Amino acid sequence: MTPEVIERLRAAVGPERLFTSDLEKYSHDETEDFEFPPDVAVCPASAVETAEILKIARGYRIPITPQAGRTGLSGGALCVHRGIALSMERMNRILDIDERNLFCVAQPGVVTQTLQDEVEARGLFYPPDPSSRGSCTIGGNVAHNAGGPRALKYGVTRDWVTGLEFVTTAGDILRTGGKLMKNVAGYSLTHLLVGSEGTLAPVTEITLKLIPRPAIAKTMLAPFQDVAGAARAVTEIFKAKLTPCACEYMDRAAVAAAEARTGKKLPVQGGEAYLLVEVDGNEEALLDRDLERIADLCMKEGAPDVFLAAESEKRRFLWEFRRSIGEAVKALSAYKEEDTVVPRARLPELVQVVQQVARAHGLTAVCYGHVGDGNLHVNILKGELSEDHWRRGLDPAVRELFARTVAMGGQITGEHGVGYVQRNYMTIAYSKPHLDLMRRLKKVFDPEGILNPGKVLPDEEGR
Ligand code: LAC
Ligand code: ZN
Repeated sequence: MTPEVIERLRAAVGPERLFTSDLEKYSHDETEDFEFPPDVAVCPASAVETAEILKIARGYRIPITPQAGRTGLSGGALCVHRGIALSMERMNRILDIDERNLFCVAQPGVVTQTLQDEVEARGLFYPPDPSSRGSCTIGGNVAHNAGGPRALKYGVTRDWVTGLEFVTTAGDILRTGGKLMKNVAGYSLTHLLVGSEGTLAPVTEITLKLIPRPAIAKTMLAPFQDVAGAARAVTEIFKAKLTPCACEYMDRAAVAAAEARTGKKLPVQGGEAYLLVEVDGNEEALLDRDLERIADLCMKEGAPDVFLAAESEKRRFLWEFRRSIGEAVKALSAYKEEDTVVPRARLPELVQVVQQVARAHGLTAVCYGHVGDGNLHVNILKGELSEDHWRRGLDPAVRELFARTVAMGGQITGEHGVGYVQRNYMTIAYSKPHLDLMRRLKKVFDPEGILNPGKVLPDEEGR
């Protein structure tokens, strides 16, 4: 990158929001141990500045990678072709909490938990709750269409975004949607941009639907002697037409990892697998009844006992424990993180498939995740394996896992995104005409291919 480009970028954002050294922070997200330093990081304070930066990047054909909280698990924020890191960290204001229309308008750099706390203080609720919500941002959640435990009852980020302001590589600042519960005017660019992982257009403002905050939540932990029993219980809960707001799965290895990392133990022990189930609403008696029925179903499927977290302190502990699993598992060894999703009724099969595939390839898999919505996180660990076994064994194992997941009507990622690390598996998920259509779509938004290059779509070679 030439001094001339740097000068123009500096003029666009001002000297205090452009960095050419100490770029460590902009070099990684939470994906494995990847490090890809950009040439320069810029932190716009407005859509107008973002448009200026994009025009410069386009003029000089410089790769530009939008970033927000950098908590992603598929390498979506990595500057794999160097260039410009476009960090939305300074656009971190909640612009409006509209208590009459029940909407919230926020800039992309607002931390998800901050937004949730602010709206909850007003008796309102923004449900999507990725485990990283204390440090991820709404902008990143929009880019990846983030989920989380409560997606089971309330849906994912895309279900809550009704409007966006975004910037094209031509430098146009456009708005799609708004504080609208209904809107069918033309193609929904809102829905397209949510989950596009920064490859189509940086988002500079987000309008989110809100609902009244449920007054009560109650949580239950059930240990199971065998993994299949836990998976069957999930199916039974939904067959019984119960609607928990979260139904999380943790296998023994995932629990052990979190216990080792946090130094705290789960209140019930000895399970091969655990379900963490939560119900929420406003009628205590109804919630108690639902939780009791869920407990009965769990016991019918083999849980010797269940632990009810009646007090909010115990409930908080269980959730903190659950949220710590991701980092705890990753701290165990070198790993590859997968994010399978299947129709929920096929979950028992998926859990078995994971173990079969791991065994067949001489690998270890740790599983946890949002089984209520069919979304299972699978961490394949290197452990004591030789470098050689790891290098040779991993890719065929992942391919087999994904092929079998897709054959079950599933997909290769439920909420972590494709980003950098899953893009070469997109050929398992989609046919060539389907991928070509996506490529053409990308070209419409980004003819020069400068926006987050090397992400989502696989290289065309060999296809
Ligand atoms: C979780 C993240 C890793 O479920 O998606 O904890
Ligand atoms: Zn998750």
